[in-house]
Amino acid sequence: MILVTGGAGYIGSHTCVELLDAGNEVVVLDNFSNSSRASLERVQQICAKRLTVVEGDIRDQAGVEKVLNDFGCTAVVHFAGLKSVLDSVTSPLDYYDNNVVGTHRLLRAMQASQLKRIIFSSSATVYGDPKFLPYTEDHPLNPVNPYGQTKFVVEQMLRGLFASDPTWSIGILRYFNPIGAHESGLIGEDPKGVPNNLLPFVAQVAVGRRERLNVFGGDYDTPDGTGVRDYIHVVDLAQGHVAALKSLDQPACFAVNLGTGRGNSVLDVVKAFEQASGRSIPYSVQPRRAGDIAACYAATDRAAKHLGGWQATRNLETMCRDHWRWQNQNPNGYGG
Ligand code: NAD
Ligand code: WQD
Repeated sequence: MILVTGGAGYIGSHTCVELLDAGNEVVVLDNFSNSSRASLERVQQICAKRLTVVEGDIRDQAGVEKVLNDFGCTAVVHFAGLKSVLDSVTSPLDYYDNNVVGTHRLLRAMQASQLKRIIFSSSATVYGDPKFLPYTEDHPLNPVNPYGQTKFVVEQMLRGLFASDPTWSIGILRYFNPIGAHESGLIGEDPKGVPNNLLPFVAQVAVGRRERLNVFGGDYDTPDGTGVRDYIHVVDLAQGHVAALKSLDQPACFAVNLGTGRGNSVLDVVKAFEQASGRSIPYSVQPRRAGDIAACYAATDRAAKHLGGWQATRNLETMCRDHWRWQNQNPNGYGG
């Protein structure tokens, strides 16, 4: 039985599909602060298999221990946390509470239950301004906002834990920019309010919920002047977790990038999404967004080595096609 914390969220729900399809039993622990139960109903529909849902908070150590023991969990895939860079600047303590204190309590609960296998959702944001590209896992870590700093602190906590007890198996996965949706169109990203991230915003313009995209910066030192990112299909990312879980059979503590190794600009994304959706995406170029970097993409060799040859296989066209199918079939997300 695998415990998936935050399993009702965007990446968690897609990972539950891949875990169930790979023959695992799954229990999800989620407080639904940024998700709904509907995603998990859809996961079960896609797989034609059941999973167990527990409403609860990772900060409740006794509650987590009870789940681990009641269900005889053998590993934890830990997604639960807050993820908005913008909110983390205005509410840093909420971010430290959910992400750092939450993970600390989860690890305590695991320790008390003698369970020592965990996959942790980290982020490329831990690297900060690039000293060189692609980012290798040895690139210096220098996160520049509270969200990224919480991920960095948790990474350090995990490394310290492993140093104290090398019988742990810890996989730290640093995601680049996950986009797309399950090809069924049944699950996908459903952000609350105005999306901060590019793809949900573009998709909402395409579906007519928003008038135009603001392109943040047209004067970067990139081929077309707009920001370049390593977009990765969320299903590739989810499959990376299944591969990572297998690698936890040996005690270890490793950090790997999950990206494609390729960069695409904002305008590449706009064009690809227009093609995928058959809709036009009006945009206007605005000043740069504070805190943004020009370009960001992953070195992928270490992931392939640690994750049994795993690599991302889906291209930008597929990412946009699948993202659009989700948006088009669910113009208001899980809300109907
Ligand atoms: P999400 O918000 O869709 O999912 C997170 C889930 O965790 C939600 O279902 C939320 O309700 C739950 N949750 C939050 N705090 C909780 C708590 N204290 N106890 C129990 N449940 C809680 O986010 P996502 O995009 O699926 O991201 C999953 C993880 O991956 C996060 O840790 C995020 O920081 C990390 N990550 C995401 C991205 C991205 O671009 N989406 C990139 C890098 C890393
Ligand atoms: C992508 C590009 C923007 C919105 C963030 C977090 C990172 C990780 C992934 C969690 C940039 C441009 C965006 C818009 C735009 N999350 N853009 N108009 O900033 O690379 O990464 O999400 O760990 O930590 O920082 O992603 O999707 O916000 O931006 O022009 O309305 O799109 O400037 O070049 P980002 P993003």
